[in-house]
Amino acid sequence: MDSFTIAHISDLHLSAEHKRFNLRRARRLLEEIGRRRVDHVVVTGDIAADADRREFEIARGLFRNSGLLDPEKLSLVIGNHDVFGGVHMPEDILTFPRRCRQTEYSAHVEEFRGYFHEAFERCLYGSHAKPFPYAKVLGDVVLFGVNSVAHYSAVKNPVGSNGDVGDGQYRRLKQLLEAPELRGKRKIVLIHHHFHKYPSPAEGTLHSVWGAIERRTMKLHGKKRLFQLFRECGVALVLHGHVHLNGEYGRKGIQFLNGGGSLLGPGNRMSFNLIDIGPESIENRIITIPEEQPAVPVRPSVPELQAA
Ligand SMILES: [Fe+2]
Repeated sequence: MDSFTIAHISDLHLSAEHKRFNLRRARRLLEEIGRRRVDHVVVTGDIAADADRREFEIARGLFRNSGLLDPEKLSLVIGNHDVFGGVHMPEDILTFPRRCRQTEYSAHVEEFRGYFHEAFERCLYGSHAKPFPYAKVLGDVVLFGVNSVAHYSAVKNPVGSNGDVGDGQYRRLKQLLEAPELRGKRKIVLIHHHFHKYPSPAEGTLHSVWGAIERRTMKLHGKKRLFQLFRECGVALVLHGHVHLNGEYGRKGIQFLNGGGSLLGPGNRMSFNLIDIGPESIENRIITIPEEQPAVPVRPSVPELQAA
């Protein structure tokens, strides 16, 4: 096979209202990616900050201006902020669980596909009715897009940020991963939620309380059967976001890359994963982009607000 290069970014949290810095930084990130020889760009969710129509229009404008609205150039999966939104002001904490409960989950997933429909073209689907899971063949590489955003549950997912791949989607993903026509190709899974464990802070500190809450509300349920499925089907790599760090790790014999620190990494660093997929190996470099000072909030430009 010829070598294939992917730029992996995640967790842009674009907003015209709450996080205007992110828009300026996202432009810079995509400019930097555009300067390199990259075959494909992968975005693993939380593109929006608050699941708002304007945020998706801004994202669409960014991708269009970067020449990425093309199934051969861009693949996306959905994140929890793209479905439920998030808490941005202290007073939101009280009302956010009710908002999550009232969110029309399937409508949001379908709208997400609508905003970025070009990226979902030329895919194989486990179900014609749903955008996820999908398989996209790019030469010798196949990308499998998975929706890991769990439905609202008062007990298991009160603020919408936990992950789950339900039974129906799991079955369809298994069918796609086992499809005879995809045998022998390099299989890469795209999913929003992480597979690593949260570090456990020292007991008895306030930090440990927040750590415990975070572990409870940021968790991907059902990891065990996914590990097994990925191993049995020869998945070469899993790309994800959700935790705002960029890094590489292995679990249960599978290689994972987190791109969640693309805009919001430690020290406000911008970075992306630049992945070279060769015939024998997969190599990743984390490309870090220096922050410009001072950071000035910007408003979306007119082209970025135009929904195509
Ligand atoms: Fe997330």
